[in-house]
Amino acid sequence: MGDDWLEYASDGPPWQAPVPLPTLVMTERTIVRRWTADDAAALFETIDRSRAAILPWMLWSSTDHLKLEHTVHYVERFRRMAAGSGCTDFPMGIFDRESGAVLGGTGLHDINAFMRTAEVGWWLRPESQGQGLCREAVAGLMGQALRSTGKGGWGLHRLFAMVAVPNSPSRRVCERLGLRLEGRYRKERYLGYPASNPVGWLDTMRYAVLAEEWDHDAGRASCEPWPHDL
Ligand SMILES: CC(C)(COP(=O)(O)OP(=O)(O)OC[C@H]1O[C@@H](n2cnc3c(N)ncnc32)[C@H](O)[C@@H]1OP(=O)(O)O)[C@@H](O)C(=O)NCCC(=O)NCCS
Repeated sequence: MGDDWLEYASDGPPWQAPVPLPTLVMTERTIVRRWTADDAAALFETIDRSRAAILPWMLWSSTDHLKLEHTVHYVERFRRMAAGSGCTDFPMGIFDRESGAVLGGTGLHDINAFMRTAEVGWWLRPESQGQGLCREAVAGLMGQALRSTGKGGWGLHRLFAMVAVPNSPSRRVCERLGLRLEGRYRKERYLGYPASNPVGWLDTMRYAVLAEEWDHDAGRASCEPWPHDL
């Protein structure tokens, strides 16, 4: 077997990060952009105050960003990666559009250049939840991610999110964004939290959207529903 199969793995040349990278996305109430060194202190403080609220779904919040130095290092590591070529992970902050305060985080993760896909994740500090800010910010990011590079976007073809079945707030975000429920992954995630009485293995739901399904005017997807019960 030759390398012909490789042609099937991509639609056109593999994705490369646009140069320059897309800058911020502004929505009615938020700004979404990559972290800069100046954000490190505010990011650390926000995570530190939000740990209980974003656990157990963001397990990294119990192991990472435990000191300001960790957050400074995190921001600088991703800044350097984004400045080089071949970066596949672009964490971003969600900021209050008026005050500039850190509301939470999102980003384009685990980009597969051949498939032009990325995973999107999100979290909000507790005092900013329940106001539609996550949906609004992520809708802005998804619109930018699925827009062609020629029009200032990231030129991605497909975005997906993996959400643990009991994480109702996050599943509601996916539903309000109009994403398609594509599958249920059995025992996909181990939740070893709290250590004294771990939750154990959890199923996750996979939601996704294609570039041609994103309605840029409405700021949401218009996906055909998955035809099977899950
Ligand atoms: C997931 C998470 C970001 C969702 O936050 P959220 O505030 O519920 O989501 P939204 O910003 O989209 O807000 C939607 C809520 O605001 C309410 N709301 C108020 N004003 C609104 C408005 N103008 N527009 C939309 N929703 C509005 C909605 O009714 C909805 O509340 P409901 O869930 O009780 O129906 C948050 O729960 C979180 O940080 N969880 C911990 C981390 C996590 O689980 N991350 C995801 C891992 S997959």
